[in-house]
Amino acid sequence: MIKNVATTPYVDQKMGTAGIRKKSRTVMQENYVENFIQSLFDAIGGVEGQTFVLGGDGRYYNDVAIQKIIKIAVANKMKKLIVGQNGYISTPASSKILLKNKADGGLVLSASHNPGGVDGDFGIKYAVKSGGQCSSKISDAIYARTKEITSYKIYDCENVDLSKLGIQYIADTEIEVIDPITDYVEMMQQIFDFEAIKALFKSGFTMVFDAMNAVTGPYAVKIFEQILGAPKGSVKNFVPMPDFGGLHPDPNLIYAKELVDLMYSDNAPDFGAANDGDGDRNMILGRKFFVTPSDSLAILTDNYKYIPAYKDGIYGVAKSAATSTAVCRVAKELGIDYYEVPTGWKYFCNLMDSKRITFCGEESFGTGSNHIREKDGIWAVLFWLNILAATKKSVADVVKDFWEKYGRNYYLRYDFESIDNTVADKLMVDLENKLSTLKGQKYGKYTVSEAYPFVYHDPVDNSSTKNGLIVCFEDGSRIVYRLSGTGTSGATLRVYIEAYEKHKTSEDTVNMLTPLADVALQIAQITERTGKIKADVIT
Ligand code: G1P
Ligand code: ZN
Repeated sequence: MIKNVATTPYVDQKMGTAGIRKKSRTVMQENYVENFIQSLFDAIGGVEGQTFVLGGDGRYYNDVAIQKIIKIAVANKMKKLIVGQNGYISTPASSKILLKNKADGGLVLSASHNPGGVDGDFGIKYAVKSGGQCSSKISDAIYARTKEITSYKIYDCENVDLSKLGIQYIADTEIEVIDPITDYVEMMQQIFDFEAIKALFKSGFTMVFDAMNAVTGPYAVKIFEQILGAPKGSVKNFVPMPDFGGLHPDPNLIYAKELVDLMYSDNAPDFGAANDGDGDRNMILGRKFFVTPSDSLAILTDNYKYIPAYKDGIYGVAKSAATSTAVCRVAKELGIDYYEVPTGWKYFCNLMDSKRITFCGEESFGTGSNHIREKDGIWAVLFWLNILAATKKSVADVVKDFWEKYGRNYYLRYDFESIDNTVADKLMVDLENKLSTLKGQKYGKYTVSEAYPFVYHDPVDNSSTKNGLIVCFEDGSRIVYRLSGTGTSGATLRVYIEAYEKHKTSEDTVNMLTPLADVALQIAQITERTGKIKADVIT
């Protein structure tokens, strides 16, 4: 029943910031998934006798890819596969289940916040024993293997029924279909003060959670409506769909438009939140109020005492270099360690494993803690609800009080999309070469204080990673440039702009940052090189 199938390599199976991410039609090519999975298994020394967690965000082609992966795992003599019911599992739940079962690895079939469908995107994220995504060293080895693969092994059998919970065997491989929601909910109950949040809803507090037709819908209905008592209907778009009902499941001010419009209307509930396709990203809103992800990380850290699981003290905190420095001030005030890492959640994992940090976050709507090794959308929402329940303040007041105490980091990300790859690479190389000449240069009221490529030295495995170019100014403002590692067509240049104000905390963000954004265009010659006079997306 084990077939050895001859194949030819694909040359583009390189993982980016978070796993491999491609157009669905690319992944649907003959042997594309098979090659990648067999190469992965080969590169890690085989999977005989191992246990893996498997599931996805339900996007288009999940059902096909998952069956292929099961059959390849069986043919490669995997001992056990723990699979989410109907093939669904959120990224945070997968990390939890991997850790709980001490599994050897995990595969999440998702392109995260990218749109789904036959003309959308597909992806596979690979987590290792620690619960976090594999290191660059491992992904490089997998990539090398994909370029030389000549055959893969697959078990010849019917598709496995993933609708019924329980154990079945295919050859000697145990396939356990589980309900991932149960474990996840239990973990949240252990972290947060559910009684306080229940009382908050009982007092008439209202919320809307937008699951964006993606994987977190059933988790959110269970937690917010059924357990915590939010009124029925508080969770919107809760049925996962293969094309996310046409939504771009990225929880930000642009793509979660329905929620944003509601939150800025006169009928706004007290609290609004959304998650992305696979449930690791979150957006937080109050009535006519948006919380930037960078501020959110800083505010959660500043309020850790309200959360039962953290109230006795936390380790340090970390952010990606591109994220605003707001949390840095909090770390200083709390007297805890503070780390800055490259973009990508995997860089936080060593810091969590070695108990250096408890919380971490990225500007790209990702926040999390050491309860798992992925960012966690629902965790962040519950953290906010717990703070609101404990302080009895509105979202806006929590944030304004925070600014009052620490000052405000105005922050925006400017994305220049679909740039020719060669043009983008050259822009970055030339900019890097120019950095050493920038110190002391004046651009209007801004004077460059230092400019350098961001290089991270991991204190645990001693690896070094270069990611992005940073220009700092004398008044504390910063510009960070980097190329996206999750896109599927051309290159995306991300430019992160930040300005700090100790006292002027209620200005308009766009007004505050536009002059600096113009400087960013000028320094990197973005218009001259790309033809773009402004960013395609500003978040
Ligand atoms: C983007 C975000 C990054 C995040 C990643 C996966 O990566 O910027 O913070 O970790 O998605 O969700 P990028 O496209 O910038 O490489
Ligand atoms: Zn995601």
